[in-house]
Amino acid sequence: MSIKENINPDKLPNHIAIIMDGNGRWAKGKGKFRIFGHQNGVAAVKEATEACAEIGVKYLTLYAFSTENWSRPPIEVRALMQLLVSTIKKETKVLMKNNIKLEAIGNISDLPKKCQEELASAILETKDNTRMTLILALSYSAKWDIINATKMIANEVKEGKIKIDQIDDKTIDEHLSTRKFPHPELMIRTSGEHRISNFLLWELAYSELYFIDKFWPDFNKEDIFEAILNFQQRERRFGKTSEQIKN
Ligand code: IPE
Ligand code: IPE
Ligand code: MG
Repeated sequence: MSIKENINPDKLPNHIAIIMDGNGRWAKGKGKFRIFGHQNGVAAVKEATEACAEIGVKYLTLYAFSTENWSRPPIEVRALMQLLVSTIKKETKVLMKNNIKLEAIGNISDLPKKCQEELASAILETKDNTRMTLILALSYSAKWDIINATKMIANEVKEGKIKIDQIDDKTIDEHLSTRKFPHPELMIRTSGEHRISNFLLWELAYSELYFIDKFWPDFNKEDIFEAILNFQQRERRFGKTSEQIKN
């Protein structure tokens, strides 16, 4: 029996988030420039997207560029932005064919104009697709998002739209850039690093974390299926006891 056949379709995570890490080390291991790793990471993006759509996951968030990544050497940043433009351009028709909707979170206005245009046009073109939503985190960091949300809420308090005592979980949820999406049940990070790197700090509060040593360009469908299978074997207790969950 294949890994995929072992997955219980009734217990799928609705939303998977991935920190796609290890492109640079993958390339270095092959004696190539870091950008070669990023270029080869595109195939893994396609694998992950197809695998999730195929099995019935409804949301997939990919951490593609963090706020902190702006401090990388300018030549790498430029190459990443170019890769983003060419990939979106090329892959929009595949998204259409597969009925996948594209969305983006992050400080999009920080991206080069060409990226913003390409992204906006792909988001518009795919907006009515219903099979799965693919969310790209670009110039994103959770702290950036939480700071923005805090400012918006503070303004609404100032304008008398809400009272301080009314601020709760839901208020925060509704002011984050992820407001349209459910929280991820499963977060995967490749490359053997065991950290969150400023990704979805609020939304991952109760997510199951799954770490895999493989570098991102080597990541494939089987890896997603294995991560889902592993997720299904876990007991999510949300503060309760195991006995409470079982009864
Ligand atoms: C992830 O791979 C891609 C981005 C952060 C854009 P890295 O570029 O971080 O690769 P490593 O971690 O240096 O190997
Ligand atoms: C996190 O990877 C960001 C993305 C995958 C886009 P990094 O490689 O930038 O993370 P750190 O800095 O090593 O934690
Ligand atoms: Mg890295």
